[in-house]
Amino acid sequence: MALVSAAEMLKKAKAGHYAVGQFNINNLEWTKAVLTAAQECNSPVILGVSEGAGKYMTGYKTVQAMVAAMIDELGITVPVATHLDHGSFDGCMKCIEAGFTSIMFDGSHYSIEENVEKTTELVKLAHENGMSIEAEVGSIGGEEDGVVGAGECADPNECKAIADLGIDFLAAGIGNIHGKYPANWAGLSFETLAAVQEKTGDMPLVLHGGTGIPDDMIKKAIDLGVAKINVNTDCQLVFADATRKYIEAGKDLEGKGFDPRKLLKPGTDAIAECVKTKIELFGSVGKA
Ligand code: 13P
Repeated sequence: MALVSAAEMLKKAKAGHYAVGQFNINNLEWTKAVLTAAQECNSPVILGVSEGAGKYMTGYKTVQAMVAAMIDELGITVPVATHLDHGSFDGCMKCIEAGFTSIMFDGSHYSIEENVEKTTELVKLAHENGMSIEAEVGSIGGEEDGVVGAGECADPNECKAIADLGIDFLAAGIGNIHGKYPANWAGLSFETLAAVQEKTGDMPLVLHGGTGIPDDMIKKAIDLGVAKINVNTDCQLVFADATRKYIEAGKDLEGKGFDPRKLLKPGTDAIAECVKTKIELFGSVGKA
């Protein structure tokens, strides 16, 4: 099974009233932590790659080759998708060429007409290549690796127009924000989510900005049709925290504690723990 498009896993999630986690990756340690956590939970998983992270890892071909080889070497059997996060049109083209199994085209900053036009073209290309495709309507607030959004709620009619283009899953802005939520955050707009779900029927909906959303809101969002939840900042925070603790405790100065494999271990383990906790919350344990 292993490397697959995300279409089937999300169809099953929507029908089964749980969500599959998308965890963004940054390097080898991150990838290993997410894959091993998903395998331990016997859960499908989506590896999110932002354009910035793709560039950092020297390009999408490197990412695809690393993930494929790691799945093989680690004996990962759960379904895994390599997914471009908030892709530009160009980025999507590059990931199609690199053999990713899924792309997100973020056309939310274009007019709805232009978003429809570009999404239509990419749906055709993605499906010809056996990949799944996510589109976005209404923007996610805050900043995700250079992609800045105002955070307006999606128009349910525009969601229907985009959903009807044959995409596999839809990200609709419902007051969610990338990164940490401000103290005065108004919370998710369940009214918008319910209206979007009513207009788009079986379409799996995507909740971006998974970091910092209270558990009860996550559960309610899943009840209202969310089948994919994106998490990035949370893993970064636990990685940084565990690494800082290791250094502050002077562990890098004890024996060969400076060995990168030792230095990066607490952070990597923390990511795996964080991913497991999220998979449990999203309800996808045992759904591989
Ligand atoms: P967070 O960084 O808020 O978890 O958001 C991740 C995300 O939505 C990636 O697209």
